Amino acid sequence: MKGGTGQRIESHSGDIDRLLLAAFLAHSSDFLSGEELSTALHVSRTTVWKRIGLLKEHGFTFESAPSRGYRLVGSPDFLHPAAVAAGMSTRRLGGAIVTLAETGSTNAVAARLGEEGAAEGMVVLAESQLKGKGRLGRTWTSPHGVNLYCSVLLRPRIPPSSAPQLTLLSAVAVARAIINCTRLTPVIKWPNDILVNGNKVAGLLNEMTAETDRVATVVLGIGVNLNMLRDQFPEELRHPASSLLLEGGAQVDRVHFTRSLLESLDGLYDRYLSGGYPEIREEWISWCGIIDRRVRVSDSATPEREGVARGIDESGALLLQLNDGAIERVLAGDVQLCT
Ligand code: BTN
Repeated sequence: MKGGTGQRIESHSGDIDRLLLAAFLAHSSDFLSGEELSTALHVSRTTVWKRIGLLKEHGFTFESAPSRGYRLVGSPDFLHPAAVAAGMSTRRLGGAIVTLAETGSTNAVAARLGEEGAAEGMVVLAESQLKGKGRLGRTWTSPHGVNLYCSVLLRPRIPPSSAPQLTLLSAVAVARAIINCTRLTPVIKWPNDILVNGNKVAGLLNEMTAETDRVATVVLGIGVNLNMLRDQFPEELRHPASSLLLEGGAQVDRVHFTRSLLESLDGLYDRYLSGGYPEIREEWISWCGIIDRRVRVSDSATPEREGVARGIDESGALLLQLNDGAIERVLAGDVQLCT
């Protein structure tokens, strides 16, 4: 597949493409000989040569010099799973990464693979989505080759009531990745929007399957508008929605961003599983732009109401102080700052 026009590429931990790309990235200015690579990767020189040939077909470019070997000089602007995984340091996430050139929804694919028994930590990426799912039944605009559409399959041993905590966790991971990869400052808007300069650049849709008292799977669905241009948004979204490119004026390296996001998620999830939710909640609050501000809350079930956002509780519900002083726990809905 060149530049991402094929159907599906998978990469698993320990596969040769990951190891090859990791070796080239670690020695970015050096030539690596076929012999060095074959010794380091415990494969034959013919295998090294064939894999480099396949990577070239996928859009990677190498300089070769007769007695010195190969040097990686260019990578495609495509979320090649081995390139995302190369040099990535994660414990639980990314053991398997699947990239689809086009799909309905990465969340739907991850859920199906989860049902079929895929292991915790599997990541599904797509270059474009035809039926990208947003919250509250909305669609998520997902043009080709410019953004990140990512779903991560988890199998945490937690009760269903704790699953919303993982939405907070993914919002913190997105905020960290934006800080790591750009000069922009993200703000989290409850429950799961990430804004830059007041405009939405990322959204989260986590979907769970459960047995009676235990979660079976959680799919963390993360959409980040990286390099999307104004005219790629539907007209009605052009103002509130934006991309990191539009806000910062600089292209974002999609592979680097994805790796950074998965590393943040992995570290936070590991912390979460060892009882670290209170710290994650604190960090979420530190990124949150609505605490102690007057907001208007709307959802489909209850009339619109105004109050002051006082914080979030243990399960991630918004604590809204109403005009009479009472505190309401808001479990779902949309929040707007009152101006
Ligand atoms: C929102 O409405 O803010 C949530 C948007 C979530 C979009 C992401 S893109 C990757 C994953 N696959 C989907 O179909 N939706 C999520």
